[in-house]
Formats: sequence, C-alpha cells, structure tokens
Amino acid sequence: MCPDGGTTGLLRTKWGSRWPSIRTSSTTFLDNLADLGATFLAANIVIGDKLGLYKELAASGPCSSEELAQRTGTTERYVREWLRGQAAGGYVTYEPATEGYHLSEEQAFALAQEDSPAFMPGAFQMATSAVKDEPRIAEAFRTGAGVGWHEHHQDLFQGCERFFRPGYKANLVAAWLPALGGVVAKLEAGARVADIGCGHGASTIILAQSFPNSSFVGFDYHEPSIEWARKTAADAGVAERCRFEVASAADFPGTGYDLVACFDCLHDMGDPIGAATHVLDSLARDGTWLIVEPFANDRVEDNLNPVGRVFYNASTLICTPASLSQEGGLGLGAQAGEGRLRDVVLEGGFTRFHRATETPFNLVFEARP
Ligand SMILES: C[S@@+](CC[C@H](N)C(=O)[O-])C[C@H]1O[C@@H](n2cnc3c(N)ncnc32)[C@H](O)[C@@H]1O
Repeated sequence: MCPDGGTTGLLRTKWGSRWPSIRTSSTTFLDNLADLGATFLAANIVIGDKLGLYKELAASGPCSSEELAQRTGTTERYVREWLRGQAAGGYVTYEPATEGYHLSEEQAFALAQEDSPAFMPGAFQMATSAVKDEPRIAEAFRTGAGVGWHEHHQDLFQGCERFFRPGYKANLVAAWLPALGGVVAKLEAGARVADIGCGHGASTIILAQSFPNSSFVGFDYHEPSIEWARKTAADAGVAERCRFEVASAADFPGTGYDLVACFDCLHDMGDPIGAATHVLDSLARDGTWLIVEPFANDRVEDNLNPVGRVFYNASTLICTPASLSQEGGLGLGAQAGEGRLRDVVLEGGFTRFHRATETPFNLVFEARP
C-alpha cells in the first residue's frame, strides 16, 4: 500500500512509470478520470442510439466496423472510433481474435431494448440536452433567474419520456396503484383521472391502456409536449378515453376527479403549495392524490450516494432552474425528501399524507383530503 492510499501504485500498474509523482486521493483522481470519460461517452451513447448502432449490433450479433457502418448507412471511420470508445467504457464487447464487436445480453438490455426497465439512452439524451444549456445555467447562478423546462433542447422532453416510461410500465399498475387505498377498484369500475405535468403522457397512456372503464386527461403547461402526447395516445388507440390539454398545475380545469397524479413534476413547479391547493379543489371528496418524486432521504448526508449524485446534478441543471423560472420560485429541487414534501402537501390543505411505497429511484406518496 502506498502512503497516498494506493494511487501511485495503481497508476503505475495501469499506465507504467509516466505517472510517478502523482499524489492525490485515489478516489478523487480515478473518479474524476472515470467521470471525464463518462462525460465524453454520454454524447457517443446518444449518437449510437440516434443512428441505430446499438440496435443493429444487438440484432446482427458480432460484426466489424465495416459491417456495422454498412448496415446503418454510416461512415466506417467514425463507427470504428465509436466502437473502440464504447468498448473502452464496457458498453460494447470487443473480440481481439476476430477484431469484431458485439453486445452482451446485459449490454443489449440496457442500450438496445427500448422497453427494458434498464434502458439508458433516454437518460443520456436528457443529460446531453442539459449539458447544452450550461452557459444559460451558469448565467442563472449569477442572476438568480430561472430556466424553464420549455426552454431546453427537445432531447430533454423525448429523453424524459423514454427514460421514465419503462419504470412506469414496470411499477405503476403492478405496485404503485395497489399501494393506494381503494384506487385500483375505482379505476376498474370507471374513474376520472387527471395526470398533472404529464409531459409526453407516458404515465397517462399506460393508465388508459390498463383501465378501459376509466377516462383520463393529461395536463402540462408545455404545448409541444401536449401535442406529442396526443399523437402518442392516438397511435396507442386510446385517444377517445385519454385526452391531453395545455394547462398549468395552478389552473387545470375540472372537478370531482377520483385520482389526480403528479409524476416527477411537483418539485419542478414554482408554487407546489398552490398546486396542492388546486389539486385539493379538483378532487372528489374521497379522491386520492398520487405523487411520485425522485427517491431522496431527508438529510443531505444521506443522499450523498450514486442515486443522489445523479439527481442533485440533474436538479442543478434542470429541476431547480425550472422551479425558479415560475411564479413562486420555491426551488424544492429533485432531492426534496419526504419531510419537505409532506410540509408542501399539508400546507396546500391536505390532511393525510404518507409514503405508500418506493423504489430505489422513486418515492410514491398518497395524499387524501
Ligand atoms: C420531469 S418532467 C415529467 C413529465 C412526466 N410527468 C413524466 O413523468 O414523464 C416535468 C414536467 O412537469 C411539467 N411542469 C413543470 N411545471 C409545471 C406547472 N407549473 N404546471 C404544469 N406542468 C408543469 C413540465 O412541463 C414537464 O413536462
């Protein structure tokens, strides 16, 4: 063990004697290096996804850069460099004997199967979209101004839908709704449901497909997302029972809803307390408000882990500026935690609030009038 905690030895082993005098904490240096590689890799993941490189690799099995380029209508020299970067990151498997590349089952599950619960390219689409806005966010640090959800590159909206949908498919009907008192029975019999901040409508459409006796309306203040959701609902054959309208959480129309849902959007709002009050007014007397938020513990020190790292950093670039751009500007952030969210919901006038269930990435709350 070296006196610096092993860094020098580790670097010598990895890169020979060119790094003899580095004195730093091994965690910090190697983590920084891994992060740097990941940052460059992120854009290449989006490229591989957009150009169909992962899907073709998964479909065709082992192939050379020439074959992959030819099958995807791309240029071999770019594909060769891309494949090598992917292999260095462990995203693609390289076979030295044949100089061929393939995706293992696990790699294909995460990179090529759009509906797998581990599908990641949507998340990287969100991340690279956020990186494009770094100059605006840096300026917002100085001025305190916000940057609205609608002001980001469109990859954020599409990436969000593609990243979140598999989680909703896996959990919403199977686990989250059954954790709410009496909601599944109401939905089966025929209920009225509003999905606030619905984005591209992934959650709304899954609900509509699962409960044919119920009617659904998704609201979002972002018009292009609502247009996208309408088209997706039509393509899914549920448009008659699943409408989408442009409206904010503060003024969406309708009353007597049996279920109002907010998926990963309450913390993005400038005035989540005002939203809670409006949700309360819109609910039937025995209605339910389902609130799904990013997983977080109440204490900062308990969120300093890989999940908190993703959420705090995404929140700095996306969620906090979104909230600060709106009236109220509460800036809950994506790691608000149960205690803070309870305060918001009770201040909005609800009398009951509890954590119904959770996943490693989501907290699921039930609020009742
Ligand atoms: C992280 S996205 C989640 C979208 C969707 N619920 C999902 O899970 O895929 C947050 C959404 O909240 C919407 N939003 C933010 N503030 C809002 C507000 N005050 N009223 C309505 N929608 C809002 C944004 O336009 C965006 O579509």
